[in-house]
Amino acid sequence: MKRNPRIKAALGSAFGLVLMAAGAVSAQEGGTVKSLAVPIPTELPPGDLGKTVALGRDIVNNTSTHPMSRQYVGNSLNCTSCHLDGGTNPKALSFLGAASVYPTFTPREKQTITLEDRNLNCFMRSMNGVRPPNGSEVSVAIAAYITWLSEGYPVKMSLKGPFGPNSQPSLKINPATADAAHGKTLYASTCASCHGSDGAGVGKFPPVWGSKSYNSGAGLAQNIKLATYLKNAMPLGNPNLSDKDALDIAAYVNAQPRPKFVLEEHMGKGK
Ligand code: HEC
Ligand code: HEC
Repeated sequence: MKRNPRIKAALGSAFGLVLMAAGAVSAQEGGTVKSLAVPIPTELPPGDLGKTVALGRDIVNNTSTHPMSRQYVGNSLNCTSCHLDGGTNPKALSFLGAASVYPTFTPREKQTITLEDRNLNCFMRSMNGVRPPNGSEVSVAIAAYITWLSEGYPVKMSLKGPFGPNSQPSLKINPATADAAHGKTLYASTCASCHGSDGAGVGKFPPVWGSKSYNSGAGLAQNIKLATYLKNAMPLGNPNLSDKDALDIAAYVNAQPRPKFVLEEHMGKGK
């Protein structure tokens, strides 16, 4: 059968996408990203779309102070306090490729949610704030930024978390084995210089507990999720903890006081 050359080209590029997908999948399974199969975009789209993407990037980096987003934030964190390097760090809750798995079903909400909804959920929980309205300029700008960071990733519906192609698999360690007393000692020697012995943060280094931190409904408030994050991201610039030490520190940090999550208080005025 003869194929129209255009279809052939399309098939060729589809094959390229399969290869990229394979790279992304092995990143997820291997737990580390050796080399990114898809380059991180550097050039903004032209015109108004590019302006929206740039706005989203600015908001993600300065969420708690930006005039368009600060009213929705209830602590002193920015999205990039956790999603390191504006979400471009492939190991620390990466935004790279994240848009390619949405809409997706989440067990937490028992709903199929869009990327926009997912962003707004982090406002309610990780940012201890309220949801900006769906479709508002701030919400659309953040979604545009994350979609831009997902260029080149094939759309792939995900049936179970962790979701984005660069999300890190959960540590395989029983959370019940956590030793918070040992975690306290490690926190003092490994974390307190930046995050404070009272957890409130030092200078530009963000708080990890207390009234300005993430609330009890946040992903990181679960010891296994915080441990997985620490293993991949902390100490900043030199993540080197063993699985057990990461879990022990997570148990200590999450045993400290933080805002309590009550869903109704975080819904905002949007639909
Ligand atoms: C306190 C840390 C923290 C902050 C701050 C934070 N997030 Fe998150 N975010 C997380 C964690 C943890 C997850 C993964 C949650 C899980 O596995 O349930 C996540 C997941 C996400 C995802 C899903 C990624 C994927 O691969 O599916 C998106 C999108 C996201 N966050 C956007 C945002 C945006 C936008 C902001 C700022 C408004 C933000 N986050 C602020 C911790 C944070
Ligand atoms: C060299 C300083 C430094 C050290 C040491 C360090 N961190 Fe961080 N940490 C940071 C910075 C800076 C950020 C925010 C990144 C940003 O804004 O770009 C951060 C972010 C975090 C976050 C997510 C944001 C938040 O505040 O909730 C957690 C949780 C965290 N660190 C915990 C720890 C723990 C636990 C340790 C010890 C194992 C540790 N860090 C060691 C500097 C450090």
